[in-house]
Amino acid sequence: MKIKSAKFVISNQDVKRCPDTKLPEYAFIGRSNVGKSSLINMLTNHKSLAKTSGKPGKTQLINHFIINEDWYLVDLPGYGYARVSKTSKAKFQKFITNYFKQRRQLVCAFVLADIRHDPQPIDTEFMEWLGENGIPFAIVFTKADKLKVGALERNIEAYKQQLLDGVWEEVPPYFVTSSTSALGRDELLNYIDEINKSL
Ligand code: GTP
Ligand code: MG
Repeated sequence: MKIKSAKFVISNQDVKRCPDTKLPEYAFIGRSNVGKSSLINMLTNHKSLAKTSGKPGKTQLINHFIINEDWYLVDLPGYGYARVSKTSKAKFQKFITNYFKQRRQLVCAFVLADIRHDPQPIDTEFMEWLGENGIPFAIVFTKADKLKVGALERNIEAYKQQLLDGVWEEVPPYFVTSSTSALGRDELLNYIDEINKSL
């Protein structure tokens, strides 16, 4: 799929104030610093459409970007970001949970995981929660450029095996990406294109 246009639309904390259209959307979720905002920039070929940072906790709101005037990419705050107070963490998680539960336009969630690490309980628990709530999702492994090919392949296999050893009978769809080399860009955009066409 060709990206003809990508524009920021709105940021907010309230799912009820997200764009009031019927266009399909795809949300990026995962731990802080995993590379959600960077991936949006990589996919859209923009340097700083979504704000990124070396420090975790950069994205704090639900951010909608409209692509080709036809569908949305949604950048979300990271879960599991420890350096906020307990009350604001609970509030934070509430609006993210509400977004996933209430947003009818959401057709697929992308759960991002840094391929350098083993599956983290917070990620696998979130995938299970998506499954229980009937929300389709795919896994996006990020930062593939940080590993050599052999280590990358070993980590992918180990990650898949740990999912199968857990609650999953089959491995969910997954993509291997790098925001610095654009690895996985075509595959991810084609996946979105196929879903858009099937709607
Ligand atoms: P929050 O908004 O805080 O939840 O983080 P985020 O998941 O949006 O991460 P962000 O895109 O801001 O990236 C965090 C850091 O990781 C930045 O320093 C990025 O440059 C770096 N980064 C993201 N993706 C990649 C990647 O594929 N490769 C490399 N080498 N660095 C990456
Ligand atoms: Mg971000």
